[in-house]
Amino acid sequence: MLTQNELKQNVAQAAVEYVLPFLTPDTILGVGTGSTVDIFIDCLGPHRSRFRGAVSSSERSSARMAALGIQVFDLNDVQGMPFYIDGADEIDHGFSMIKGGGGALTREKIVASVADQFVCIVDESKRVDCLGTFPLPVEVIPMARESVSRQLAQLGGKPALRTDFVTDNDCQILNVSGLAISDPSQMEARINNIPGVVSCGLFAIAGADVVLVSTQDGVLRMEKNPS
Ligand code: 5RP
Repeated sequence: MLTQNELKQNVAQAAVEYVLPFLTPDTILGVGTGSTVDIFIDCLGPHRSRFRGAVSSSERSSARMAALGIQVFDLNDVQGMPFYIDGADEIDHGFSMIKGGGGALTREKIVASVADQFVCIVDESKRVDCLGTFPLPVEVIPMARESVSRQLAQLGGKPALRTDFVTDNDCQILNVSGLAISDPSQMEARINNIPGVVSCGLFAIAGADVVLVSTQDGVLRMEKNPS
């Protein structure tokens, strides 16, 4: 029986093998945040001479890549990237996700929006029929924390401030439990529209394109639009 860490190791290695054939000396990769991505970065490190560098979704991932000699670029200096590789807290069968357990949701959404393909790397514990068991992270401008909380409560959620945590954007995170997320795209749009919300951890309007799922029987690859 593989442990969760071994499952993460396998999917991280599979993600490296997935992108390697496409790398050129000009390639910039988009790299997410989290414990699975940490392992992905470690697996990618030995191949750093095969591509130009990466744009990162967090200070944490930037530091880890820099330590391995992977050049980290500012997104403003990059025109595009073929892949954005990141984990998820939950992913449903339509490839909509809850992300932001590591608090990097806003930068994750920004970097992902520039990539041609979002490659989601998860172990099988992250696959769900319906999103929402994992409390939805919502990044807020600090002065709007209470007003946003009231509006989230009107949507049926129970917001709780993530204590002792400040995002890379100097903002705060509300963890929202109890939301009935029957239509993830609609819920994402509604929450994004609340004044004071920087972004919410639903990645449904633009979800994953490819999902690599680590199971006890190996890593499965699923594509949204198989060619
Ligand atoms: C960070 C994220 C991560 O992708 C998500 O929390 C999954 O992390 P892990 O790989 O540690 O389970 O969205 O903001």
